[in-house]
Amino acid sequence: MQKPILVTGGTGTLGKAVLRRLLDAGHDVRVLSRRPRPADVPHGWATGDLRTGEGIAAATSDVDAIVHCATTLGRKDVAATQCLIDAARRNGDPHLVYISIVGVDQVPLFYYRAKFAAEQRVADSGLPWTILRTTQFHDLVARMTSVQRRSPVIGALAGVDFQPIDVRDVADRLAGLAVGEPAGRIPDMGGPEIRSHRDLARACLDSTGHRRVLLPVRLPGAAFAGFRRGGHLAPDQAVGRITFDEFLAERKA
Ligand SMILES: NC(=O)c1ccc[n+]([C@@H]2O[C@H](COP(=O)([O-])OP(=O)(O)OC[C@H]3O[C@@H](n4cnc5c(N)ncnc54)[C@H](OP(=O)(O)O)[C@@H]3O)[C@@H](O)[C@H]2O)c1
Repeated sequence: MQKPILVTGGTGTLGKAVLRRLLDAGHDVRVLSRRPRPADVPHGWATGDLRTGEGIAAATSDVDAIVHCATTLGRKDVAATQCLIDAARRNGDPHLVYISIVGVDQVPLFYYRAKFAAEQRVADSGLPWTILRTTQFHDLVARMTSVQRRSPVIGALAGVDFQPIDVRDVADRLAGLAVGEPAGRIPDMGGPEIRSHRDLARACLDSTGHRRVLLPVRLPGAAFAGFRRGGHLAPDQAVGRITFDEFLAERKA
């Protein structure tokens, strides 16, 4: 009998989309979350915390694959990923699928460094593994503007382009990978278009009807120099289908 697929971060932006794809395809799925199981959840659920290790043994027991979407949004991702690996190894030999970010080895942002170190833990885990790196999600790029909406002036990173991708495109890929053979580090996945941050911020403001002045912001430091060099872009892998404008139009509707 087929064992469940564990989705860590199954309550997050990407994890929710992965969960939906797997359930739609008829798979038995278990979500890992720090929250207690909501009463109306029809699928598997494990309450656990990757920072403390509490509940992770039960979460990883008897699973065929793990799609690791959980993130602490910081350096703790390395220890959290190791916690998941250790528990999974004690419980068997599940296929570990890890979602990472294009350019984690190019752009020296502290979060990217942690993701790169976590990738290495996955590759050295002794488990069968697959790593997919993608560009920034539409949601994140839109949030960079929406968090500033109360300000009369909106900052946009000068000289920085983004290649945003829709989480539904990423979820399709991850769901396929979770039921496939372990493939190691696979080709990166980028959104369909590369556009300047200024242009993307303007599209966000237009879609919500906010009239604001855009201010080019040139941030110092090696990380932002890395973004200006385009280390986070995948121009040869522009395989995402849903454009940023389509995402904004749907969100508005
Ligand atoms: N955002 C982007 O543009 C982008 C681009 C490429 C790759 N990625 C990667 O995609 C993944 C998902 O990103 P996202 O934006 O969907 O994340 P998100 O919406 O912030 O969700 C984070 C998830 O992590 C879980 N989580 C946090 N701390 C945890 C802990 N200590 N133990 C267990 N679970 C914990 C949360 O679950 P509960 O709160 O329910 O516990 C939540 O479901 C991340 O690995 C990220 O690096 C993101």
